[in-house]
Amino acid sequence: MIRSKRHCQTVCDTPLGIRFLWAALLIAVTLSGCQSEEPYFRPNLVEIEIEQDAGEPVTEDQQRLINETMLAMFGTPDHPANPFPKDGELADAISPLTTFGFDVEKLKIAAGPAYRDAEGNQHGLYRLHCAHCHGVTGGGDGPTAPFLNPYPRDYRQGVFKYKSTFGAAKPTHDDLKRVLINGVAGTSMPSFRTLPDNEIEALIEYVRYLSVRGETEIRLIEYLAAEGEMPGSISEIAGGFPLAVDEEGIPEEEPEEENVVASVTYQWDSAPEQVIQPVSSPIDYSKPDSDSMRDSIARGEKLFYSKNLQCNSCHGDSAQGDGQRDKYTVWFKWREDLGTNNDDPAEIDRVVHQFMEVGALQPRTIHPRNLRLGVYRGGRRPIDIYRRIYSGINGGPMPAQGTAAGIGGNDVPDDEAGGSIRREQIWDVVSYVMSLPYEQLSQGPPPQQGSNYTPR
Ligand code: HEC
Ligand code: HEC
Repeated sequence: MIRSKRHCQTVCDTPLGIRFLWAALLIAVTLSGCQSEEPYFRPNLVEIEIEQDAGEPVTEDQQRLINETMLAMFGTPDHPANPFPKDGELADAISPLTTFGFDVEKLKIAAGPAYRDAEGNQHGLYRLHCAHCHGVTGGGDGPTAPFLNPYPRDYRQGVFKYKSTFGAAKPTHDDLKRVLINGVAGTSMPSFRTLPDNEIEALIEYVRYLSVRGETEIRLIEYLAAEGEMPGSISEIAGGFPLAVDEEGIPEEEPEEENVVASVTYQWDSAPEQVIQPVSSPIDYSKPDSDSMRDSIARGEKLFYSKNLQCNSCHGDSAQGDGQRDKYTVWFKWREDLGTNNDDPAEIDRVVHQFMEVGALQPRTIHPRNLRLGVYRGGRRPIDIYRRIYSGINGGPMPAQGTAAGIGGNDVPDDEAGGSIRREQIWDVVSYVMSLPYEQLSQGPPPQQGSNYTPR
């Protein structure tokens, strides 16, 4: 049932051993075009629109090829592991997801429609708890999303903000767990603390699944737009599994770009190596009234308003978040991609409508935080604030003060760590930030940034 030469090339190049993949693909090809009542993963039309606008359109045939490949590798919202469970012969086929390193049993609990079985176990956790905000596809665009500020995360971008790892590195398992247990303070992302641990674990696995799936799709779209063909046969796209791993389970070698799924899962699997270890803190945060704490706050205040760090350029001279406020989120990234980063309202309006027509949400500016409120989305422990300042906030304008070279903490000497200030000084900035909700506003904000403001 091969419909075109193109499919045959993709399927027939496949070496033995990954037969399950192309068996599934054949069925995908056979069934494509059939209408199904089941919820489906929505193709990423925004990404296709970006390429279209950049003068590298992805044709309808190519889009179909992407959808079929995605179906064969990642299944459907109801059946992630096996999109065709009723088919006798394939019912027991090994899921590609197992090969990609996913725990399929966890995915099955989180996927599909919500119901409670005879034993009282809850199924369909993602649709029950998350989909109305984050969307069935994980695009951050569920029915509730347009009413929220900030918008729910679009997992498909693979961009996460509140994590312990440096820069654009993926979150660790523990980072996602913390987000689910605590929620994101000051936003509509709720806490799921009351769910049993096995359900939290299933949801974490499902978020990772939607994210790997979505990022794979984006990379395939980009590849087809640039090269006009797929990166290789479907087994090459899935790529060289199982990967060789070290004792800690971290892959030893980074896969080739063409091995799209492997290269995305590699980012996740190697995240634990990117965790920011702080240098030891000279300050005892359990003694807020100590002299050393007062000195640290005073040093931190100088740094906050220094020409070097200029935290006040965004957070405002009053630290109330009223400095520069015209930066857009990743959701509005296309504006830069298209070179339309100008102030012509008619042009902005045109671009916005063009993208909203293919499913994007109305763009929103991302405001610097009002640091007087003491509400921290990434956690309120000193270590959380340290990491936020060290690494900046991925996917937004907040810049990093540390470097990838310095994440090893005390194991890395200062002269090798780089960064805009010594890492010990970051603790002083942490002290100042954490003192801001208590600082007496009656002192008034400092006059102007860059002026001769003398801190207290
Ligand atoms: C009421 C809407 C809502 C619901 C329900 C919801 N979320 Fe969120 N979620 C959000 C918002 C809003 C954000 C973005 C917060 C931000 O950007 O500061 C978010 C962010 C996240 C993040 C990203 C955190 C980071 O570090 O970037 C993850 C992961 C996440 N949610 C998972 C889930 C899961 C899993 C569920 C279901 C168990 C869920 N959310 C339910 C609104 C929601
Ligand atoms: C270019 C603008 C910019 C600069 C410079 C900047 N920030 Fe931010 N900061 C932001 C934005 C924007 C956010 C909100 C990010 C978001 O919601 O995604 C933020 C958020 C924060 C948060 C909240 C973290 C949380 O968990 O909620 C802290 C704390 C913070 N900044 C401290 C600082 C400090 C300290 C400096 C100077 C070292 C600094 N910022 C420099 C733009 C900036």
